[in-house]
Amino acid sequence: MIGKLNHVAIAVPDLEAGTAVYRDTLGAKVSEPQEEPDHGVVVVFVELPNTKIELLHPLGEKSPIAGFLAKNPGGGIHHVCYEVEDIEAAAEKMKAEGARVLGDGSPRIGAHGKPVLFLHPKDFCGTLVELEQA
Ligand code: CO
Repeated sequence: MIGKLNHVAIAVPDLEAGTAVYRDTLGAKVSEPQEEPDHGVVVVFVELPNTKIELLHPLGEKSPIAGFLAKNPGGGIHHVCYEVEDIEAAAEKMKAEGARVLGDGSPRIGAHGKPVLFLHPKDFCGTLVELEQA
C-alpha cells in the first residue's frame, strides 16, 4: 500500500542550528523557515535528490511538537511520511488491520495542503507514521 518516502520530520530545539547542520555541515539545499500556524510549527525543508527532510520547530502555545521536545530536549526524529494513492482507502485498511489512526480517525489536510493521517507509534515499531495522499 505505501509508496515513496515523502519526508522524514525531525524536531529541533534550535531551528537555526539545525538548519546550519544540514546546510553547512551536510551540504544540503535548505529552504527559508516557513511558519505554519495551523499546524503549530515552523518548518525548514531540506531537499534531497530522493526525498525531503523537514526540520520542525514549535510555533505558538499549543504546538504538537512541544511535548516531543520536552521529552527529547536535543531533538530527534518526530515522524516519517509515506505516500499513498488513496487516503480514504488507507484509513479504512488501517482500521481493518487494527491500527490506531490518531485524531478522529478521518484524514485531514496536512502541512502540504494534501490529505494526511497519522498512525499511533505503538502500532508501527515505535515510530509516528504519517500517510499522505500523493
Ligand atoms: Co509530516
